[in-house]
Amino acid sequence: MLDIFISDKDRAATPVWQIRAGELESWCASHAGPGAAWVGTSGFKGEAGKVLLLPDGSGGLAGVLLGLGDGSDPFLVGALPAAVPQGDYRLAGVLHGSTAKAALGFALGTYRFTRYSGGKRDWPRLVLPDGVDGEEVSRLAAATFLARDLINTPAADMGPDELAAAAEGIARLHGATFDVVLGDALLDANYPMIHAVGRAAAVAPRLIDMRWGRADAPRVTLVGKGVCFDTGGLDLKPSSGMLLMKKDMGGAACVLALAQLVMEAGLDVRLRILIPAVENSVSGNAFRPGDVLQSRKGMTVEIGNTDAEGRLVLADALAEADSEAPDLIIDMATLTGAARTALGPDLPPFYTDDEGLAAEVETSAVAMSDPLWRMPLWRPYDSWLDSKIADVNHVSDGPFAGSVTAALFLRRFVERAAAHVHFDIYGWTPKAKPGRPVGGEAQGVHALYDLLKRRYGA
Ligand code: BES
Ligand code: MN
Ligand code: ZN
Repeated sequence: MLDIFISDKDRAATPVWQIRAGELESWCASHAGPGAAWVGTSGFKGEAGKVLLLPDGSGGLAGVLLGLGDGSDPFLVGALPAAVPQGDYRLAGVLHGSTAKAALGFALGTYRFTRYSGGKRDWPRLVLPDGVDGEEVSRLAAATFLARDLINTPAADMGPDELAAAAEGIARLHGATFDVVLGDALLDANYPMIHAVGRAAAVAPRLIDMRWGRADAPRVTLVGKGVCFDTGGLDLKPSSGMLLMKKDMGGAACVLALAQLVMEAGLDVRLRILIPAVENSVSGNAFRPGDVLQSRKGMTVEIGNTDAEGRLVLADALAEADSEAPDLIIDMATLTGAARTALGPDLPPFYTDDEGLAAEVETSAVAMSDPLWRMPLWRPYDSWLDSKIADVNHVSDGPFAGSVTAALFLRRFVERAAAHVHFDIYGWTPKAKPGRPVGGEAQGVHALYDLLKRRYGA
């Protein structure tokens, strides 16, 4: 369990009252004293994420008010750790919403990316609310921290080699097998597109392959886009577009976080994790616009734009995942800018043909407050991927529905799996919210963990 949580319910701790907009008057009426008098002069109205420290009249802290606004964000408790003095706190009074989410919010509020700036600090602590499973909340927070750290680490320190090392560390911790197909061995092992995308980089491309769990348990395979830096290749990105591209391994970070949760919880699945880890770089041997690549599946793929590299490395990994006909393939990728244009950074689209699975994803997304939105695998757009000289082009030539056509391209490499769902995530928080600092973000991880727990949990 994270050391910010206190299990002892009787421990003396400063009360934190959560206040929804409009509830302040009744709180003041039932809490007469210097604290309530202070509220009147403070201007505090219970705005979302606002924190008000209540003096006890003798230089100490009588309590804390936390504004919930309209109450729609269950993680606002994430504002507390940075806003209150060190010490022990407990939620008091009427508890709105899920106390487990409040505790998770508190934990998420203690995340800082400290690798380069130092500044590790001791945080205030929270008495676990009644009935909250501190271990489970801690696991969820730790998985999020893992993904955030991996994404936030710049490409110079999180290349394909370091990403593989991080994956190996997680594998070792949980007794998973760990294999890598490295560099030119990708050609011998028939991963031509992973090789083509990554071959121009100074650090060799590779396919990470991990397995864990009872051999005859239901097979779940996670595939994550591990583009450690995306220059765009010869179709070079402009500087504004390249600036954030250390996060282009966000899909890999999220599937590793999800895998960690599944292994820690001991779900009864035969888990496989496939991560094509590459840098999409520029050099004399870079793949080119107009090239035709062989794919693992056998289809030939005409390259319309070297900046659409993610779907190429995923296609080879998905073909391998599919060859085992697993029960479920989940892929996660920072695949298109078009997904952001459609839904913004905080609401990742997902794609599946399986109605039942789509409903499961939606249920778990709501249950975990980990928002996800279904978008269609719209068949009429499939022909936009037609090529005159190869079996398929990996991009359409128009500006429309870029996230949909990317998903349609991936779908062509999955035939035998019982179900497949693709997530086009952003992996980044551009505007800070309580518990969510600007930087890398795990998206869909908590929802998918919940989905797998419902399916395969004890
Ligand atoms: N990694 C990018 C997609 C991306 C960009 C995700 C910005 C999040 C934020 C991907 O490799 C890419 O460059 N996609 C292109 C595809 C296009 C060339 C068809 C895109 O979305 O512009
Ligand atoms: Mn790209
Ligand atoms: Zn990319």
